[in-house]
Amino acid sequence: SPRGDFAARLLAWYDRHHRHLPWRIPPRAMAAGERPDPYQIWLSEIMLQQTTVAAVKPYFETFVRRWPTVEALAAAESDEIMKAWAGLGYYSRARNLKRCAETVAAADGGRFPETMAALRELPGIGDYTSAAIAAIAFDEPAAVVDGNVERVVTRLEAIERPVREAKQDIRGIVQTLVPPSRPGDFAQAMMDLGATICTPRRPACAICPVSDDCKARLNGDPERFPLKPPR
Ligand code: ADE
Repeated sequence: SPRGDFAARLLAWYDRHHRHLPWRIPPRAMAAGERPDPYQIWLSEIMLQQTTVAAVKPYFETFVRRWPTVEALAAAESDEIMKAWAGLGYYSRARNLKRCAETVAAADGGRFPETMAALRELPGIGDYTSAAIAAIAFDEPAAVVDGNVERVVTRLEAIERPVREAKQDIRGIVQTLVPPSRPGDFAQAMMDLGATICTPRRPACAICPVSDDCKARLNGDPERFPLKPPR
């Protein structure tokens, strides 16, 4: 089917099958004008960097209940933040969390920067996180590429190189697929598709909303992608 409606088909699937996550505004509420809280999107994306959704959920709930705003987190004792983070791992994330909260709270009345470029300047925020926050919280048509999205795209295009060598191509392909309308939902839909349908093992191609576009499926062995790095 034509690539032109890739986003439309993915978003129609997301409208029916999106995951319910504590930081996420569901599509119906988004359509009614509700917006995600940039503080919650930032916090969740930092937590999700090297950690699964299931592990993040209770920590996210605890943090938001205890520190409901970026100002509250900026004012917290570092020890308290580290204690609340204990168990999530990769503790440099927690140290950057406090530094980033202080920067945002001090800068512009506690408002997060709204562009990918400006977000990228903040402590602990790199390419992935700046794109995710800009897209999800501010509807910037940014290419949001995590491991799930890399798997989806290497299958869509049957990319015959290891991901490590194809990062720029993958980013470029995602950028061409991002729709001008609902780029934040599109980013979350790509991640949900990778997590629930386009899984590493035994992907559920029979119920995939974009299987008609998928070259790996057409070639008969989607599980072969992404290619294992040569060793
Ligand atoms: N993994 C990382 N960020 C995510 C998000 N916003 N939704 C679902 N899975 C994610």
